[in-house]
Amino acid sequence: MLEKINQLINEAKVFEAKLPQNIEQFRIRFLGKKGIISELFKEFQEVPAEMKKEIGLGINTLKNTVLDKITYLKNSLDQISDYHTKSDLSLPGDLLKVGSRHPVSTVMNEIIEIFSHLGFVISEGPEIEDDNHVFSKLNFPPEHPARDMQDTFFIHKTSPYDNGIEDVLLRTHTSSVQVRIMEKQKPPIRTISPGRVFRNEAISARAHCIFHQVEGLYIDKNVSFVDLKQTLLYFSQEIFGEDTQIRLRPSFFPFTEPSAEMDVICKICNGRGCNVCKYTGWLEVLGCGMVDPNVLKSNKIDPEVYTGFAFGMGVERIAMLKYQINDLRLYFENDIRFLEQFTYSI
Ligand code: PHE
Repeated sequence: MLEKINQLINEAKVFEAKLPQNIEQFRIRFLGKKGIISELFKEFQEVPAEMKKEIGLGINTLKNTVLDKITYLKNSLDQISDYHTKSDLSLPGDLLKVGSRHPVSTVMNEIIEIFSHLGFVISEGPEIEDDNHVFSKLNFPPEHPARDMQDTFFIHKTSPYDNGIEDVLLRTHTSSVQVRIMEKQKPPIRTISPGRVFRNEAISARAHCIFHQVEGLYIDKNVSFVDLKQTLLYFSQEIFGEDTQIRLRPSFFPFTEPSAEMDVICKICNGRGCNVCKYTGWLEVLGCGMVDPNVLKSNKIDPEVYTGFAFGMGVERIAMLKYQINDLRLYFENDIRFLEQFTYSI
């Protein structure tokens, strides 16, 4: 009997299968109800006591050999079929995960595109600026609160001993680029300046110390407030949708006179009032106005001949209104779950 068992063990060891059904036949032959192993166990009952240990061991070895063989054959057949699927050249390829544009870039590009249709060209200026370009030449009086340490990041703050040296600071608005353009270009000027700005603010859902603005400047003969209003209406309807209404509220900026702030109607409640618009029906979008004659003069443009308008908007703010994002910090955390929602914009 022992000899028969050893023969069966060898047979199981050399067995090979090409198809899954060969494995199944093999399994039934050995492990089936009336299979070889259960027959051997029946015979085992008749085995004399002194042989029981050796024969029992043999039957168990046979059983384990068969089980191992089945697992081995199943795995190798799976691998072969995997290989065939993977090498099927007619199957579509694996999708590559691509990144997406940041919502701030997308909206910035959209703003640039809209104004380029109106003939505005892009101009850029430095982020590290001096007092002249950020404040003085924009008609900020020396004691204006925006010059204060609490609002502005200074890189070098002059002391009474710094003879003739100016404050060096991070620009708090892109209006500084207006000055740089006026210094080197004669009217007509029609330009937008996108860029990063910095303010010394505590970070919260509604404020950040770094954000982006797009500045607009248009100077020519006979430019009036009507041109400003029409430009802003066109822009708002392009970016927020055709049915967008705007309103201008009187405001103050040192570099524009008259000055205004523009609101767009709240799309969530259609002007009826909700918690997003704080029950006013309107959302503030940008600051604007007619370029103050003092600014034209300090940049050697004759205010008797030329007039102009300027506006400045926060890009994060526009994106918040467009996509209903309620926390500024989301833009800077780079959380994939937030960014992935904008993948379509590639
Ligand atoms: N620079 C202003 C701000 O940062 C915006 C503005 C730009 C207002 C141009 C009027 C004209 O708030």
